[in-house]
Amino acid sequence: MQKNSAITLFGGSGDLTYRKLLPALYNLESTGKLSDDFKIIAIGRRDYSCDQYLEIAQRWIETYARKKFDSVVFNKFKKRVIYFKMDVSDVEEYYRLQQFYDNQGINHHIYYYAVAPSLFIPITNGLKKYSATNQAKVIIEKPFGEDLASATQLNTTLAQFFGQDEIYHIDHYLGKEMIQNIISLRANNIIFKEIWNNKCIESIQISASESEGVGTRAGYYDKSGALKDMVQNHLFQVLSIVVMDNPEGDFATEQLKVFNRLCAVSDYSKEVVRGQYAGYLAETNISPQSQTETFVALKLFVENDRFSGVPIYIKTGKKLKHRETQLAIKFRQVGNSLPNSLIIKIQPDEGVNFKFNIKKPGTITELQQVSMDFCQSCVLENRINTPEAYERLLYACMNDDRSLFSRWDQIVASWKFANEISAKFDQIPLEVYEQGSEGPESAIAMTEWIV
Ligand SMILES: NC(=O)c1ccc[n+]([C@@H]2O[C@H](COP(=O)([O-])OP(=O)(O)OC[C@H]3O[C@@H](n4cnc5c(N)ncnc54)[C@H](OP(=O)(O)O)[C@@H]3O)[C@@H](O)[C@H]2O)c1
Repeated sequence: MQKNSAITLFGGSGDLTYRKLLPALYNLESTGKLSDDFKIIAIGRRDYSCDQYLEIAQRWIETYARKKFDSVVFNKFKKRVIYFKMDVSDVEEYYRLQQFYDNQGINHHIYYYAVAPSLFIPITNGLKKYSATNQAKVIIEKPFGEDLASATQLNTTLAQFFGQDEIYHIDHYLGKEMIQNIISLRANNIIFKEIWNNKCIESIQISASESEGVGTRAGYYDKSGALKDMVQNHLFQVLSIVVMDNPEGDFATEQLKVFNRLCAVSDYSKEVVRGQYAGYLAETNISPQSQTETFVALKLFVENDRFSGVPIYIKTGKKLKHRETQLAIKFRQVGNSLPNSLIIKIQPDEGVNFKFNIKKPGTITELQQVSMDFCQSCVLENRINTPEAYERLLYACMNDDRSLFSRWDQIVASWKFANEISAKFDQIPLEVYEQGSEGPESAIAMTEWIV
């Protein structure tokens, strides 16, 4: 970390900052990873004094930081944090912001855009007009645009102030412990390394179920829907790690190769399912005629050497029975045995489960399926010692490590594919599903989902 550095949190009084960013920065403080003169500038419109802001921040940190709250650590942390009130949509306000940075002696910046996407361009224009330095990185939250065209416009604006290598597209899934573990598991176990291909794997399933509805994000969500909110970014990232040809190669380049080889099935009406939970239309800030999907399931292929011909099933939705994200690999069957399967549990439980066949006790040939389970998150020590995704990603950005961030060319490729699917949405009926269910019937029938 350079001297005179700061992270500026645009959206410093928002949910993301309170629940994720401040607790992550506090964890970095408590593990001694912040340099002494590093500052944290939280920007919002609310009329808080710095003390008032810190009082609120403390409550969130006490609740959400993985490290136990320690007043000595917090007192050190407090000295770094300054609340700065401004309207970030007003370009002229950036003159005052620059004066503030000058007074604080800050000239190396990380800007974090934890605000609605409509503010990404105004903030960049304000910084471009008044910033005294272009020694700056920017971390930008999803959604990166609403489609390829808007993402390109945003990228062009960002590139007028930030170098392409200074733009950090955050996808917090890449910072999750078990997602990082997919590579370790593939690369370091001969039993998986040698069979991680289309000869031995029959299908791949990635599912991310949420039990919550749209909550306070209704305005944004109704314009986005499940495909753009979850699949185009998080779930494609997971997919790319599972099926990349060469996990030992350059990570981002290998991911890009996957995105460029995504192939949808030919019959969208059969292989893509869209659903909306019952009661969605009555939610606050949702259009009563909304056709937005709160659930999507799709079958696709990746035509690379390793996985050509292997169907990949993705499903995600809101207001479902369980909150659970997992990856499941179904291996090919041997004779009449049941297929082996490997489940990687990503959240909220973290762990690995492997199912295999053994002889049923007392019989000669009858088989039964049994499982081996490893629960990572059951161990308290693991939970305390595992950096949260945002903590890992913030630290990586501070240290110029781009390996855990999405590259612009990946975003282009994944938007192209997502747009191709959403362009067909008018051919796909929107099925209403019950809250607390497993989702639309047609999605359940798509394949035998591994649980
Ligand atoms: N929350 C999450 O878990 C999450 C997860 C992934 C991605 N994201 C993304 O992160 C971004 C922020 O989400 P959020 O949930 O934190 O939103 P939020 O709770 O609505 O917070 C929005 C923040 O933006 C500030 N803001 C809005 N207009 C402003 C203006 N003109 N000038 C100055 N500040 C302004 C608000 O300040 P005041 O309240 O003081 O006006 C507030 O701090 C969104 O793009 C969202 O999609 C959020």
